Amino acid sequence: MKVLVVGGGGREHAMAWALARSAQVSEVLVAPGNAGTAGEAKVRNVGIGAEDIPALAQLAREHEVAFTVVGPEAPLVAGIVDTFREAGLQCLGPTAAAAELEGSKAFAKGFMSRHGIPTAAYETFDDLEQARDYICQARAPLVVKADGLASGKGVEIAETLDHALLAAERMLSGEAFGEAGQRIVVEECLRGEELSFIAVVDGETVVSMASSQDHKPRDDGDRGPNTGGMGAYSPAPLMDEALHERVMREVLQPTVAGLAAEGRPYKGFLYAGLMIDEDGNPRVLEFNCRLGDPEAQPLLLRLCTDFAELCEAALEGRLQALDLAWEARPAVGVVMAAAGYPGAVERGRVIRGLAGPECEGVKVFHGGTALAADGAVVTNGGRVLCCCALGDSVTAAQRRAYERVAAIDWEGAFYRSDIAHHAIRREQQAGG
Ligand code: AMP
Ligand code: GLY
Repeated sequence: MKVLVVGGGGREHAMAWALARSAQVSEVLVAPGNAGTAGEAKVRNVGIGAEDIPALAQLAREHEVAFTVVGPEAPLVAGIVDTFREAGLQCLGPTAAAAELEGSKAFAKGFMSRHGIPTAAYETFDDLEQARDYICQARAPLVVKADGLASGKGVEIAETLDHALLAAERMLSGEAFGEAGQRIVVEECLRGEELSFIAVVDGETVVSMASSQDHKPRDDGDRGPNTGGMGAYSPAPLMDEALHERVMREVLQPTVAGLAAEGRPYKGFLYAGLMIDEDGNPRVLEFNCRLGDPEAQPLLLRLCTDFAELCEAALEGRLQALDLAWEARPAVGVVMAAAGYPGAVERGRVIRGLAGPECEGVKVFHGGTALAADGAVVTNGGRVLCCCALGDSVTAAQRRAYERVAAIDWEGAFYRSDIAHHAIRREQQAGG
């Protein structure tokens, strides 16, 4: 069968690679893909943007694809699944109504309070005067969030009330994020350790993926501005069995049941960003209606279950009968980024060191790359590559990932040198 992947980043390269490994899959189309997907066996890029929903539906119909998997949130929030369904096409992901969980932070917060899902205390505002009154009486630090999608940049952690006021003004005036900031959420700042929890849902059954964790800050030691993620690893040792059980019971199950009860049944990948406090209590920071990027890269490197079978089971409501199998070895993925990221970056730099045989359990997933007219692979975005490796320990996986990183270069390339440091510290403590 043919399948279609929508998107063109590192997560979509990993999804296309995993689908192409399935014996059931004859061809994976990727729209628009990148230089990495262009180079995979059984994978073909099609020059259609991830948000051109009518053209994507036509592509799926023309090629009679068995199903489509959507990587990024924007087409999901815009209703790609609804359009595909109306056209009789199978498309894995939430409908626009269910994707509001990511598309509107105000909706997500209201939903969590209706269903008793633990999260930070909050208020929602679309009026600056009211926001100002509230902030002036609150205690810093505060977190100010644009309601709508803002490419992961719509969150300000304000250490002072002045900073919170400024963020609220910039968002509500439309200056910061346009339409997405016309409504804001002001919430309590939570402390603790962040953890990603990613599951796949078929409308009813929730199956957790292996645990994973990303590193959002740009610089070593988890410092510097927040990014989409500078690297990730799986499993995340903080996620023990007791916490897993609690997150399923207190967060994932009530979320999926609550959405169904509100007439928005959820199908697809569901990602809860959690803060785990000192006493081990989980609270939801955000929901994403998709796999994480870069979490998907080390996760899919560890997935032993046929990914096409997993997608079909989710689409057909058969997840209860599916047992996911994972590679026992941990995986670490290190993002190589372009100078300037997470701000504006220069594109078109030639990337050296990509060729050559890959070692077992080592894989370079492309994010922002493109093929130049002469066939060279060039940079085409902020997060350019994610070098992933399996290892017998997290320490070994990290070493192998950085060995691959060391062989690659372009002008302005940078990366963090401490991806997975939390997991390695825990591994060393456990090893005595
Ligand atoms: P979000 O898009 O809501 O996940 O926010 C992006 C990042 O901001 C999260 O990954 C956290 O690092 C941080 N963040 C969001 N909400 C809070 C909060 N209430 N307290 C502390 N940090 C937060
Ligand atoms: N790595 C975080 C995200 O995908 O939102």
